[in-house]
Amino acid sequence: MLIMTDIVGELRAGATVSDVLRVQQSYHEQRRWSTDALFDGRRLSRPAPGDKAALWHAARAELTTQPAGIRLAVDGAKLAAEIRETNPLGSDVLHAAAAWSARYWLEEEAHHEVAFGRLMEMAGVDPIDEEEVVEHRGAFPTDNYARVCVLQACVEIEACVSYGWQSRTTEDGLVRDVFRTVMKDEVQHRQYFASFAKALVESGVYPVKDVLSMAYTWIRPDGGETFGSAREAQTQRQGYVNWWERTRSGEDEFALGDDALHEGSVHTQKLTSVFALVREVTGIETRTYEDLKRAYFASLRTNDVDRIRSAVRAGAARETASVR
Ligand SMILES: [Fe+2]
Ligand SMILES: [Fe+2]
Repeated sequence: MLIMTDIVGELRAGATVSDVLRVQQSYHEQRRWSTDALFDGRRLSRPAPGDKAALWHAARAELTTQPAGIRLAVDGAKLAAEIRETNPLGSDVLHAAAAWSARYWLEEEAHHEVAFGRLMEMAGVDPIDEEEVVEHRGAFPTDNYARVCVLQACVEIEACVSYGWQSRTTEDGLVRDVFRTVMKDEVQHRQYFASFAKALVESGVYPVKDVLSMAYTWIRPDGGETFGSAREAQTQRQGYVNWWERTRSGEDEFALGDDALHEGSVHTQKLTSVFALVREVTGIETRTYEDLKRAYFASLRTNDVDRIRSAVRAGAARETASVR
């Protein structure tokens, strides 16, 4: 087994938390890679401005994972203890999520931080100064745990798509290998967050509306998080840096092109991945932003997945009829 995608099903069938953690450990051991081995004796051939810009962003983005990982580890264990008596199944799910965050997510993101930081400096970009490092370690706020899992799944999607794009478009072999290696980690991180969010809903710790509201907040065209720094208004944050709100574009030094951010195939891939995430976590099929909006609004009235599905289908049918 690789990643346990049906945690509640396994727990109900008799698995213990220790069983779940052993599966996590085994997968982690299989997948480990080393930054030293990846860089060993290698040099950048000719880093292009696009490579430098991508590294400038990725090196900073990876710094912000540590406070998020600490928060999910601490809050997961705390909430697991709070609901131990009333919802032991949900409590087990939270133990699995908290342990994964503390042990593997933090450790794997450390590889990303070091790999991108090293490569950025090898490309001749100034190291991130101490003040900026400290700023990027700002504390992650406590929030609804299911919403945060969906948020992190969306952030991992953002990283997967951006790193995948960079690894395909660069002409430098080392840049390609580093972005590709990290991207493969981000793919499985997305999978873990999806499985935790699904299990939190299935075990009744959170209603399905919390999952849908976060996915909706992420992609809504009028100011969704995925539009990052391109949004007209930014939300005020207290202490924590959302790296996707700091993306540089236009004429800035280290600017990313629109095709690497919010346009064309990159943007389509981000949206499609969020719809796939929603399907995986809730079992509700959405193909467009309008579908997701219908699902979210229906979930404010009911937690019944079948009724939410019918609301999505009915809305889509009405829309088709009005177009005709
Ligand atoms: Fe990462
Ligand atoms: Fe990640």
